[in-house]
Amino acid sequence: MIIKKQALLHALDIPVWKERIVLSDVGPQDGQVQDLPLLKKCVADCKLCPLHQTRTQTVFGVGNTKAKLMIIGEAPGFHEDQQGEPFVGRAGQLLNAMLHAIGLERSEIYIANILKCRPPENRDPLPEEVAQCTPYLKQQIALIQPTVLCAVGRIAAQYLLDSTLSLGKLRGTVHAYGEEKIPLLITYHPAYLLRNPSAKADAYRDLLLLQNLFN
Ligand code: URA
Repeated sequence: MIIKKQALLHALDIPVWKERIVLSDVGPQDGQVQDLPLLKKCVADCKLCPLHQTRTQTVFGVGNTKAKLMIIGEAPGFHEDQQGEPFVGRAGQLLNAMLHAIGLERSEIYIANILKCRPPENRDPLPEEVAQCTPYLKQQIALIQPTVLCAVGRIAAQYLLDSTLSLGKLRGTVHAYGEEKIPLLITYHPAYLLRNPSAKADAYRDLLLLQNLFN
């Protein structure tokens, strides 16, 4: 409600105190946030789930806000929580190499996670955390309007496809996300590939499929 009112004021060119609009006060489901900086501020202020008590900072997302490709991971780890940017640790370095393998720079794409706060000890996100946090991701996708999505890992894949199938069953084909039916490719999480290097060949096949989607 508050957000819709803000949009109206904006359309009428009436200045508003954006800083006072906190998405967590009204619930992210209540309306579209008009721009990414405002959404980022809402995320930074979010206290919807207990993860806000243990985070160093929120990890909103990074990259080209007009990107054709958006990569969606699971949740911040230690380094991401420290630096406020997704995929900056060892898994992030491998993700950069995976992008290079198909001729992409990290700065060309947009990267975000299912959760914006680090789960303690990097445990799997809880269903209620996913439920509270993913309206932010949905709005990031709506604002960036990527032409292709790539989910890395089981948690992101299962959420985006509303599925309980294993990652092995979900990867290898192009899916469609949401009402806009955005092409969605699923591949292994780079952290999994660090632990299981023999899966890199399959991941490379996924990346070639991904490359075909936006070339
Ligand atoms: N793993 C993720 O899924 N996301 C990050 O940002 C870092 C590690």
